Amino acid sequence: MSTAAADTRLATAEIQGNLAGFNKDLQRFLFLSFSDGASAKAFVAELAPEIASARDVRSFNALYKAIRKRRGHAADILKAAWTNIAFTFEGLNLLGAPDCANFPEDFRAGMSARAELIGDRDDSAPEGWVPPFTAPLVQAIHALVLLAADPVDGPQRTVLLDHITERVSQLSQQHGVSVLSQLDGSVRPGAARGHEHFGFKDGISQPGIVGLTESAKNRATSIAPGEFLIGYPDQDGQTSGGPTNPPAPQPGPPGYPGPAPAPTPGLPAWATDGSFLVFRRLRQDVAAFSQFVTDQSGALGLTGDQLGAKLVGRWKSGAPMERIHGVPQQPDGSVEDPSAAHPQIVEDERFINAFDYGDDQDGARVPRAAHIRKAYPRAEDPPGDAVADRHRILRRGVPYGPEFAPGEAPYGQVVPDTQDRGLLFLCYQASISKGFEFVQQTWANTPDFPQSGDGRDPIISQDAQPREFNLPGHETHLQMNRWVQTTGGGYFFTPSLPALQHLADT
Ligand code: HEM
Repeated sequence: MSTAAADTRLATAEIQGNLAGFNKDLQRFLFLSFSDGASAKAFVAELAPEIASARDVRSFNALYKAIRKRRGHAADILKAAWTNIAFTFEGLNLLGAPDCANFPEDFRAGMSARAELIGDRDDSAPEGWVPPFTAPLVQAIHALVLLAADPVDGPQRTVLLDHITERVSQLSQQHGVSVLSQLDGSVRPGAARGHEHFGFKDGISQPGIVGLTESAKNRATSIAPGEFLIGYPDQDGQTSGGPTNPPAPQPGPPGYPGPAPAPTPGLPAWATDGSFLVFRRLRQDVAAFSQFVTDQSGALGLTGDQLGAKLVGRWKSGAPMERIHGVPQQPDGSVEDPSAAHPQIVEDERFINAFDYGDDQDGARVPRAAHIRKAYPRAEDPPGDAVADRHRILRRGVPYGPEFAPGEAPYGQVVPDTQDRGLLFLCYQASISKGFEFVQQTWANTPDFPQSGDGRDPIISQDAQPREFNLPGHETHLQMNRWVQTTGGGYFFTPSLPALQHLADT
């Protein structure tokens, strides 16, 4: 196992593959419960050689890109199927993992125990979550197996995904492991490809990680690997491994997002090259969102598309509303989608992310409470670039559920399976308190962040109903009901490949 590397060269052969980004159309998540430590170890020992590394994934992605560049397309001749695994605190304990007590409080408690803190209340409360997350848990979730594969043309579309699922099922049966639930996600079809269910292009802005991922789609700088991986220097040059738990996220005083983050706590040595994984099943009420945008926009003197873009911070095409650095004579992106006249804005990775709110302090173009501005305030001050870059997350989500059918009504108390759609949100970070929880609570749920009275994140804030949103230039604050409901989730740890072997052996 590698130790903290001052030169930040990463052990990509040891880090699990989804840290580099599977980027597959089809994904499946299997939630497992072990019966006892010995059979759990035997299961992990047999599955370990199947686990994709970041190096595997990066090599495949590079080959795919090279072939596509030469031939124009590669999907017909090049396919891959990847398997990764992560564990809950209970799962690590059952495996007899050494020094588990040193893991931080957030991870040990789990997502449902942190519900109050992150704002999962009333219809987002754990009591209403769907299986296997329903609280109190019928059976403990010990592990999450992540499967991802390319589709195959024709009726056998999921044949590769089914193949790797079959392998996990076989091993589970052999070792008395229960598969509690299977959740499937996939990219949306046709023109909706790459867009989440409200219609907005997703998966655009990701932090580049020094030594691991390219930062082409990122703002100019890459982020230190210690923000995402255990055992590496973080943005402050600290290496994960300090003695204490990081502070719980606090709503800060107006204008400042709370206490400065502490380094990841003194984790066991085997945790090096690992990462914490947050999984969240988020149901999206597409009819209610569309109805709100349609009903409110007229009175505000906006089109529905404009208001929707103000809530998210980008146009449905993914084009920024902010002025894009490096594109001369662009149309006013705060009024119309600039990619209609300049398609390269969404096609060229140098442009789609080239903005930083620096010349939009009052939020006239992108309101300060818009989803992407709350979730990553970039150069906005407060909190300022340096603080914003201490709370980055690596998003790996995928939509789930059927396509919205025109004429569907907003959700009622009971949501039929045929209309249950949303996002299987996943993100990796070196500290859950400093990553997901901080973004969710201290930024998204806090109406006074970044400035007093800005309002709540219209897409993901959870803790209040109705929620306020300040649209600069309009006197009254918008009152929004919740369109995204938490219906399950958990906190997991993704060990390195050598650590998996170590857990199986000891
Ligand atoms: C159903 C739920 C969600 C929807 C529909 C949604 C939608 C989107 C969209 C359309 C974007 C812009 C595309 C991009 O930059 O990749 C985005 C960006 C982002 N979202 Fe979400 N999101 C959801 C949940 C979350 C959650 C739970 C978090 C974290 C707590 C989050 C954090 C972020 C971040 C950090 C960005 C990138 C901001 C930037 O770098 O500019 N999102 N989301």
